[in-house]
Amino acid sequence: MKAAVYYENGDPSVLKYEDFPDPVCHPKGILVRVEAVSIEGGDTLNRFGGPLVTKPHVVGYQAGGEVIEVGSEVTNFKVGDKVATSGAFGSHAELRSVPARSAWHVPNGFDVKKASVMPVAFGTADDCLFEFGHLKAGETVLVQAGASGVGVAAIQLAKRAGATVLATASSDERLEKLKRFGLDHGINYRTHDVVQEVMRLTDKKGVNLVVDSVGGSTLQGSILSLAYRGRVSMVGGAGREGMKVDVSSLMGGNRTLQGVFLGAEIAGDRAYNNIQRLINEAAAGQLEVLIDRTFPLSEAAAAHAYIESRKAVGRVLLIP
Ligand SMILES: NC(=O)c1ccc[n+]([C@@H]2O[C@H](COP(=O)([O-])OP(=O)(O)OC[C@H]3O[C@@H](n4cnc5c(N)ncnc54)[C@H](OP(=O)(O)O)[C@@H]3O)[C@@H](O)[C@H]2O)c1
Repeated sequence: MKAAVYYENGDPSVLKYEDFPDPVCHPKGILVRVEAVSIEGGDTLNRFGGPLVTKPHVVGYQAGGEVIEVGSEVTNFKVGDKVATSGAFGSHAELRSVPARSAWHVPNGFDVKKASVMPVAFGTADDCLFEFGHLKAGETVLVQAGASGVGVAAIQLAKRAGATVLATASSDERLEKLKRFGLDHGINYRTHDVVQEVMRLTDKKGVNLVVDSVGGSTLQGSILSLAYRGRVSMVGGAGREGMKVDVSSLMGGNRTLQGVFLGAEIAGDRAYNNIQRLINEAAAGQLEVLIDRTFPLSEAAAAHAYIESRKAVGRVLLIP
């Protein structure tokens, strides 16, 4: 098969388009002909500095496609089914082998490209807001990096749960594109101080919940934006900074800093079934998947460079 591989960590130019051995189907797994690769925030971070499990390495958490082989112990998938898949690596390729527990059914008529975006972004956003963030109707949420894959999902899910939604991004153009997903107030962090803006928009009360996938100095702002009993769901390090933060403002306000890692939950029944529910809701038109742009798999380097230019709002896909 063809795959986008790299031999060393680095900027997007390390990605090469080469022949790579076909993966094998395991007894508890399925083999998928990939139709769309969703480039996740974690993929760019892993390319930049993550471990190379093989050399060359095929990076990537997420891809959707058609089942072409089913392991002898698998009963819930058949050849021809359309699936969205997730895994630790291996998405940037024409074929993908995953455990059946890392694949979700794509309902008839729902675009596989859209489904390929969903498990990690929507599953994570939903966990940040509800399972760990305990969001209630009437509360106010701040989504850091609202134009990210996790951010676009979090804005929609928070809005439909009855929250007022604030989000940050690096430009007014990016914020403008988020309004149709339910964004009430956008904060351009390049031109405005986020904490000051949050306090202005909330009559100095602060927000009840922050979804923070950026970390570092952004996380510090998230903590300082909290209302009394406010919670931060800390879920990523897209800002590529250290995570040293001052937590001294938490105790006096009965505030909580909560880490969230979908990877530790995804194989359990709760998270697995939750992701299938979210895919079904998108297929029924109740959630929207935002695909910014597609590139051929052979142009993975250009796709990663485009994401790092900070122009993408929502997901960028690779098409084998
Ligand atoms: N813990 C978990 O279970 C879990 C699950 C999913 C994702 N994550 C993590 O969450 C983070 C976001 O994932 P994602 O898929 O939503 O990412 P994404 O779609 O690639 O978006 C990342 C966003 O971060 C913002 N950003 C801020 N500083 C940045 C920097 N120095 N370089 C690049 N972007 C920067 C950018 O928006 P602006 O330009 O508007 O600032 C960008 O749109 C990643 O760290 C990922 O590993 C964790």
